[in-house]
Amino acid sequence: MTKQYGILAYPAKHSLSSAVQNAAFSYLKIDAQFGVFEIQENDVAAFMERVKNDPISGLSVSSPYKEVIMNYIDEVDEDAKKIGAVNTVVNRGGVLCGYNTDFIGATKALADAFGNLKNKKFVIIGAGGAARAVVYGILKEGGIVEIYNRTSGKANGLADYFGKMFGVNIISGDLKDMLSVTGDALIQTTSIWITEPGSVVEDLFPRDFVKNFKVVMDIVHKPLITPVLAAAKEYGIQIISCDKMFLYQAFEQFKLWTGKEPPREVMGETLKKSLV
Ligand code: ATR
Repeated sequence: MTKQYGILAYPAKHSLSSAVQNAAFSYLKIDAQFGVFEIQENDVAAFMERVKNDPISGLSVSSPYKEVIMNYIDEVDEDAKKIGAVNTVVNRGGVLCGYNTDFIGATKALADAFGNLKNKKFVIIGAGGAARAVVYGILKEGGIVEIYNRTSGKANGLADYFGKMFGVNIISGDLKDMLSVTGDALIQTTSIWITEPGSVVEDLFPRDFVKNFKVVMDIVHKPLITPVLAAAKEYGIQIISCDKMFLYQAFEQFKLWTGKEPPREVMGETLKKSLV
């Protein structure tokens, strides 16, 4: 019987996962299909029953369900637990297991630019769910982070939480506190381009602030070249767009669901076509 997988999100229409995972299934001749589950919040509990019993073999979980989904999971892996978010569900014979592959995607994308992240300094903008995975991944690889957010209390809370977890002191504060800071990479993790389309770099910081960094990364894929990345390009600074992080996390999801090595090139080519 054809195994069912899919993306759980709301809205889910922008998801890149379907094309990429279906291309991988098809290339490896795996009898499986990756669909789209656009589920409203009130229907999540019933949907997760369906996942268990139907069964649906695996889920990619996206906004706004990465945290709430943990209430419906039987076993949450250690990294996901520490991050406080699950983006991947594997149904093992009716036992739902939750993982987080976002932090691996983020660190692998950064490793392409830096090799080793150890002792490199990463300045994070944003303190939401997406930031949590990025911060955790960098700290796990021995990197140094500073966290700045529109609401400084949230940045300080995250700094405190991960600082205690890793036994380090994490500097944090308001976006205005960030302006004299320098580092190896600046990482934009806020949802500003999605929640407030038409926003510009200056809504976050003065345009030439990007010059304080060797590399600038944005983890939002719509648009792929975000205003922050466009500013970095303008100054000739190396950029990392979200497709890299997406692809690396998708490889990890594929491995978790199938136990097989992902066909990286096929998945990469499919993603490229989907982003045109
Ligand atoms: P996600 O899962 O995408 O991280 P989230 O948990 O809702 O989403 O977090 C959104 C992040 O984007 C927060 O850091 C938020 O800042 P606040 O804590 O001040 O709300 C940030 N964000 C959203 N819109 C923003 C804007 N217009 N300017 C600056 N930061 C913004």
